[in-house]
Amino acid sequence: MTPNHQPIGIFDSGVGGLTVLREFDRALPNESVLYFGDTARLPYGTRTAPEITDFVRDILDWMADRGVKMALMACNTSSALALDLVRAEYDFPILGLIFPGARAAVKAGKRIGVIATPATANSGAYGDAMREIDPSVEVWEVGCPQFVPIVEGDRLQDAATIATAREYIEPLIDRNIDTLVYGCTHYPHLAEIIRPIVGDQVTLIDPASHLVRATLRELDLLGLRATAPRQATQFYVSGVPSQFSELSSRWLGFRPQVHRVVFPSMSNPVDVHADRLLVNAEE
Ligand code: DGL
Repeated sequence: MTPNHQPIGIFDSGVGGLTVLREFDRALPNESVLYFGDTARLPYGTRTAPEITDFVRDILDWMADRGVKMALMACNTSSALALDLVRAEYDFPILGLIFPGARAAVKAGKRIGVIATPATANSGAYGDAMREIDPSVEVWEVGCPQFVPIVEGDRLQDAATIATAREYIEPLIDRNIDTLVYGCTHYPHLAEIIRPIVGDQVTLIDPASHLVRATLRELDLLGLRATAPRQATQFYVSGVPSQFSELSSRWLGFRPQVHRVVFPSMSNPVDVHADRLLVNAEE
């Protein structure tokens, strides 16, 4: 296979990366994709930076073995905490969400809210990137620990979900934000709940589409665009394939065939997944 026709690796802790894949498929219909969801070890957003960095290395090592020509971190938490550390360790380009998202946000407004996982919010990565581009912006970053367990636990329709979303977002509305960034790729899956809370005055930024634009530019710059039609997207997870297949089908519009990967560093991944979702659901 020529380098141009090798797949692009896209990864997240779970189904969040599908919001990136959706934008990717629209903009780059010829590119083949190797999708990985680290469902055995999610949520990433309540993990430490060293843990997340180790997980990211597992994934990128595996993607390197599979011959990807580029990798996209379709996960803000990984982008915020691990991208700078691991980027130079691989011989293919690795792109993340923070800078493309920050650039889009500062173009859109001056008073910017970011909803993100606790790890991303605590890192301050979005605020730092935005102020580096435009020192006059004001940024508020809010950690939303329940959102990923809600999406992965298939609890979008629960009555409590709206109350949880209000709790996270209303303090930002009180700050008179003009722009709100989805600082976690799982959150666009909650758009029907978040949009009415935010109202029409606030511009919602989904960094996914901006990452995809950056990907397009990078592929062109490196002469790596695929020209022939793509192969079907390959889906892999570290947890239970049937769970991912079932949950992802509502966004993909089909039930994907999903394969399991177990990294050497993992022990009993399936149980870890179940426990962490429960613990987080009860927080
Ligand atoms: N979807 C990921 C993000 O954008 C990670 C969410 C998680 O596992 O906590 O940060």
